[in-house]
Amino acid sequence: MSRKLSSECGKPELKSVAFSYLSSRKVWRSTEECPLSVLKGTSSIMRARKSFTSHACTQGCAMNGCEVAGPQVWLKDDAMNMQEEWAHVLTEPQIQELESAVLSILEGGRASVADNYVHLSRDMSKADFPLPTLGPLLDQVLNEVLEGRGFALIKGFPVERWTRLQIVVAYYGIGLHWGKLRRQNKKAHLIGHVKDIGIDPDYKDPSTRVYLTRAAQPYHVDSSDVVGLMCLKTAKEGGMSSWASSFAVYNEMLHTHPHLAKMLAEPIWYLDRKGEVPVGKQPHFMVPIVNIHQGYLSIYLNDGYYQLAQRHADVPRMSQDQEEALKVFIQLLSSEKFRVDYWLQPGDLQILNNHCCIHTRTAFIDFEEPGLKRHLLRLWAAPKKGWLLPDCFAEPYGGSTVIGDRGGIQIQGFTDCIPLEAE
Ligand SMILES: [Fe+2]
Repeated sequence: MSRKLSSECGKPELKSVAFSYLSSRKVWRSTEECPLSVLKGTSSIMRARKSFTSHACTQGCAMNGCEVAGPQVWLKDDAMNMQEEWAHVLTEPQIQELESAVLSILEGGRASVADNYVHLSRDMSKADFPLPTLGPLLDQVLNEVLEGRGFALIKGFPVERWTRLQIVVAYYGIGLHWGKLRRQNKKAHLIGHVKDIGIDPDYKDPSTRVYLTRAAQPYHVDSSDVVGLMCLKTAKEGGMSSWASSFAVYNEMLHTHPHLAKMLAEPIWYLDRKGEVPVGKQPHFMVPIVNIHQGYLSIYLNDGYYQLAQRHADVPRMSQDQEEALKVFIQLLSSEKFRVDYWLQPGDLQILNNHCCIHTRTAFIDFEEPGLKRHLLRLWAAPKKGWLLPDCFAEPYGGSTVIGDRGGIQIQGFTDCIPLEAE
């Protein structure tokens, strides 16, 4: 199913996710084995033991101040050495069955276009997109994203020979195989267009979402469990995607800057909503960068949104130490040790687990021709399985932390929609 993609594949193959980073430390494999999970219910004196930092716990028994281990923890070199495992190339039969599923939807009158919007039957489910061989690959990829390294790539969608409607219907069907699609903005887009639509690249208007500009995207997570980015067109220059394991960066920071790492878990991280404010909510919300809930670590970071939230008088001012903590975390994310760079090509679909991966993209310059402008299609999905999240995630997750029904921006007065072109 997977083919070699580059000379990187000539390196020794890693049969499982590399743990070289933690190989010298004790790794506890499960809640049952992990003594720290027992300590959670015991005395604060025991919980305060500094020896915690000499251990690393897997998801299910993570604790504040304790390194995390597991497949989500990787360095750039680990990721590049196992490219064969995370970059999947579609086979011709898989493409054909996807095309057949799309054709069936279109011929059945279950998808149509009117006024720049694709209208799809609201009752469609995974069963309406039968994918006998692609389906298992989609399941495998979702598993890699949710329980493995937290990212994957599927290459080879024939986006240049499909119509936009075919692409959107195919993408929607793939999304249904992964979970419930979530709204990505105040307009309730279920499939979003990442494209420069001519907005001021300096985005001086605080409500500007950067994905609609040609500016660099600061390091961030999207407000959903899983984000998919399907590339339709590349830029004339720039627009490189990068991502890193936020778990590995957190581990590093625990070692290099323990006093600052501790601040990441404090309830002091206020983010701006950029004007996308649900009824009854403040124009800002608070989610710590490091969240450990019932033994599960989740890292939520949106560089730029913290600074923007400072415009609100009722948001506590960021302290110098807090700014330093954010700066150090971003510096580590963007360092050669942790950051994976990738030039998405037309037909590539990147999938990320926002809880353990943080991503970014560089600024870009488009071609003049309207049909050649950089263009990605974005999808936010809530899979049926996932990690437990603390209540504060309900703020950016559409009011819910229920697994399978969380994520996205829920603004009253709008209905789900899928624009055919960016708006
Ligand atoms: Fe993003």
